[in-house]
Amino acid sequence: MAVDVLLGLQWGDEGKGKIVDVLAPQYDLIARFQGGPNAGHTLEFDGKKYVLNTIPSGIFEKHTLNLIGNGVVIDPIILKRELDKLKDAGHDLLAKKNLLIGRKAHLILPTHQLLDAASEKKMGDGKIGSTLKGIGPTYMDKTGRNGLRIGDISLPDFKERYQKLVEKHKSILAHYGEVEDFSEKEAAFFEAIELIKKFPFVDSEHLVNDYLKQGKTVLAEGAQGTMLDIDFGSYPFVTSSNTTTAGACTGLGVAPKNIGDVIGIFKAYCTRVGGGPFPTELDNEMGEELRKIGNEFGATTGRPRRTGWIDLPALKYAILLNGVTQLVMTKADVLSGFDKIYACTHYNYNGETIDYMPYDICSIQPEPVYEELEGWNEDLTGIRSPEEVPTRLKNYIAYLEKHLEVPIKYLSVGPDRVQTLTMC
Ligand code: GTP
Repeated sequence: MAVDVLLGLQWGDEGKGKIVDVLAPQYDLIARFQGGPNAGHTLEFDGKKYVLNTIPSGIFEKHTLNLIGNGVVIDPIILKRELDKLKDAGHDLLAKKNLLIGRKAHLILPTHQLLDAASEKKMGDGKIGSTLKGIGPTYMDKTGRNGLRIGDISLPDFKERYQKLVEKHKSILAHYGEVEDFSEKEAAFFEAIELIKKFPFVDSEHLVNDYLKQGKTVLAEGAQGTMLDIDFGSYPFVTSSNTTTAGACTGLGVAPKNIGDVIGIFKAYCTRVGGGPFPTELDNEMGEELRKIGNEFGATTGRPRRTGWIDLPALKYAILLNGVTQLVMTKADVLSGFDKIYACTHYNYNGETIDYMPYDICSIQPEPVYEELEGWNEDLTGIRSPEEVPTRLKNYIAYLEKHLEVPIKYLSVGPDRVQTLTMC
């Protein structure tokens, strides 16, 4: 058996949570492999909506086990809030015994959040557009070999280790001139730790590989999107982890030869939240219309998302980096009613026309070259089979498949679980 990977091909918010929930019945284990509570995976079914920040999106499927992998950074306060909310909604994960936490996952401390805010403030106009959840500083401590891990919670000197790291953070904060009282947050942190301790801590690498040996199915769940990857995204306007397939290997402890299908998700158009380059951005009325119809506001932060047309050079780049074998197109319903839609096929860049993602898209903006396509008017939200897909949307799908050279296996026509079509 091999681990399948599901990840975003754009700038995040492609609808990964919904699709993982749809695919969960096919898997024995769903494992989040990177990122932190900057993710907001939204799931809808039976008239209810859930937003998951840290917890994998397979928790609603009875037979599926869920793992927060070692590549994830965990804020105990946010994780507790998620767990409490789920319990109130009738999903007590402690009782269900369907959530495991990787021992090597790093902990986000209250002071990591203060560092995040202080750093963004210092950057002024050049700020990254961080969600201010302390994720960047936590990954910095991980690579700086100072971090605290989930497994450390069980050690007798956990509090001393915590204090040592906090002292280091305080000296950096003093340097920024941003010393503030965080005692309330600290109390909430230790209260949350008490709850987290009740969940089984595991070694992701052994669990996942044992599952494969036993012939069980595993899906690795990504967060954010390929264009936000720390190595290959629009640096420095990126997230702090590897959002690509390689991140599933390091974020769970899986060898590359044990990766199976790579399921890449993209929206029928494009969005981006926070700062940074966005070649196909529509900073006009049409962009506003897409934002309104698509309800493009952050699931966690409520921030309005920037909107634009589909960007084929960026998608091709993402497919190449991830080794995508299957595509999922979401939010096709949002484009209903647009007479014409546009696909960016090339960029005018530095006096040349190119069809790839250049090195520097921050100081030199690629100017998109569009192909005009016929839109469709039909409301898609009620369709349930590929036969009902309107011809012009079928044409759009065929057009994309031709350019991307990977089949679109699933089509999503609304936020609910049932609004998902298997196309091939
Ligand atoms: P991140 O890791 O934060 O990037 O999350 P994500 O990829 O899981 O996406 P997120 O849940 O933030 O955003 C997707 C939004 O679109 C959610 O509100 C979903 O309910 C919604 N959604 C998903 N698929 C569709 C679809 O096909 N049509 C419509 N209209 N909404 C959809």
